[in-house]
Amino acid sequence: MCGIVAYVGKGHCKDFILEGLTRLEYRGYDSAGFACINSEHKRFSYVKTVGLVSALKESVNKALIDGHVGIGHTRWATHGIANQENAHPHFNCSKSVSIVHNGIIESHEELREKLINSGHDFYSTTDTEVIAHLFGSLLKIHHTLKNAVLDLVSQAAGAYALALLMEDYPDQLIAVRRRSPLVIGIGEGENFIASDVLAFWDKTNKVFFIPDNSFAIINKDSVQCYDFAGNSVPIKIQDVDFKFANTDKQGFEHYMLKEIYEQKKAIDNTISFCRFIGSKDVCLKHIFDPNNKRKECKSNIDSIEYSEEIWQQLGLEIEQLKNLKQINLIAAGTSWHACRIIQFFIETICKIPVHVFLSSEFRYMPFFPKVDTVFIFISQSGETADTLEALRLVNSYNLPTIVVTNVVSSTMVREAGGFLPMQAGPEISVASTKAFSCQISILYWLAHRIALFRGLISLDQMRVAEDDLLVTAEVLESSIETYKWEISQTLAKFYAKFERFIFLGRHISYPFAMEAALKLKEISYIFAQCYPAGELKHGPIALIDKRTPIIMFSVLDDLIYQKLVANAQEVKARNGHLVSFAFEGQNELIKLSDCSFIIPRVKPLLAPLAMTGLMQFFIYQITKELGRPIDKPRNLAKSVTVE
Ligand code: AGP
Repeated sequence: MCGIVAYVGKGHCKDFILEGLTRLEYRGYDSAGFACINSEHKRFSYVKTVGLVSALKESVNKALIDGHVGIGHTRWATHGIANQENAHPHFNCSKSVSIVHNGIIESHEELREKLINSGHDFYSTTDTEVIAHLFGSLLKIHHTLKNAVLDLVSQAAGAYALALLMEDYPDQLIAVRRRSPLVIGIGEGENFIASDVLAFWDKTNKVFFIPDNSFAIINKDSVQCYDFAGNSVPIKIQDVDFKFANTDKQGFEHYMLKEIYEQKKAIDNTISFCRFIGSKDVCLKHIFDPNNKRKECKSNIDSIEYSEEIWQQLGLEIEQLKNLKQINLIAAGTSWHACRIIQFFIETICKIPVHVFLSSEFRYMPFFPKVDTVFIFISQSGETADTLEALRLVNSYNLPTIVVTNVVSSTMVREAGGFLPMQAGPEISVASTKAFSCQISILYWLAHRIALFRGLISLDQMRVAEDDLLVTAEVLESSIETYKWEISQTLAKFYAKFERFIFLGRHISYPFAMEAALKLKEISYIFAQCYPAGELKHGPIALIDKRTPIIMFSVLDDLIYQKLVANAQEVKARNGHLVSFAFEGQNELIKLSDCSFIIPRVKPLLAPLAMTGLMQFFIYQITKELGRPIDKPRNLAKSVTVE
């Protein structure tokens, strides 16, 4: 959701910025722009386009503009429609200041009014443009860039990341961060700014994460950073390991398909990593440490002895863990569905009650801080605004917080008490696939690790749980292979003709059915509604007809399965069209179904993980039939960094 890329240095900025914007495309956007101080006439040159970065590239290349300092942006519309006027960069009246911005300036209306009253003309309806005008005025009042920025941030309320370019300071850039990510890549004779390290991973691995409520003044050879009170902030440079940075489609038609197929490997890597950080051989260095001893330790996996140092990684005291009486899970979207599945793991395996919260709701509910609880935030990106704000809220009560994420360089990792990184590799497609299966896997592992600590399971049971995960990852992949041909050749064509679907699940397959319905909605734009199967007769049964296929996800618990069969009968008795994801031997359900996918049996709690690949592949193929832009669905962003 919105991306910032900027450059100052000995080289030219255009190619780097345009390539950086391309790498941030996955975040979601609807217009793009580029501005630089033109090397020829030393004044601003800029281009803004609606639509894809490729259109921006074409226009910038045609305009033959380039310079040694520049800023670029992909905009996901919030204040005002996606048009050229609203695309970033924005300028002040005299076009001496240019700005790109992620986030929201909450005080924009009152600032705009003041600025209009003092004679400023506005060209867009964005909140961003007020900053350009305001900063232009402040530069005239204050003698230093530092003081002008301090005045700016004292007036601009909200959550934002800004990159500012000034014609009167042609060798410098300003980067401001307030509750929205922004990082600086430190090069030799050049520096890079971006909202995600992915933009400059091949230029430098030396990274300075601008702390929250701080800003940096950057030229080609130096970076000075200050907090919003004007105090100098030390520049702590971290070496980031970019082994994850390969973002090629590698021959797949879409990122989503590639990522569906990467799940087995991602789960294997995640479990090896958990074994590694949980083993006695490892000293828990910071994950960024390029010299960590992961490889050496991997060879000892079979003789692993689990170390209590894992709790240090999670920021937990042994006493806290012993006294734990409740676990809270907080997330949004697909990650929230994962939490609803994980609730079954923790309650069944650790015998600890779990509360699951949607991050956007949690923040505005009454909060009763309790000791003996821990809060686990689950977020693929580690940047989702609602989840991040929920984390900040819990942190403010000094309660233990843990983030489970795919992005170790994310804001949540820096702000949480501890973290557990998944090893899914970059997920580019907006629709979450491998992050979902890794979230489930890593928390299944953690639930067993907590149970081991509390003496509820033996060491052997811990190892069996790890093996069960690997076996299920195998099933996840092999089931796609079993039905690949039938789905892509006939079933996808048939089901793509329907205008609405109902998804049903029960017990642990209910949150999984919610995830399936979300996947279908977000990428195919087909209307889908999900219900717990037992609720059918309380109302939704009225919706059953031949034009609304019912997709039912089975479970491996015998009692619940029998209840599901009864629900399937209710559907068939009303001439409904039933598609089931069933397990081997579930013949009653299979016989009742108009179409069924039969999946090898796994451990009952891992049933959703086993069905994940096939469910995603089925929905992917339906969407492909409809010719939708699968990796970048309309209106959506990968990283939802606004509330
Ligand atoms: C998943 O397909 C969605 N695109 C979305 O629901 C996503 O899971 C949600 O925005 C949360 O993101 P996060 O995991 O990065 O916090």
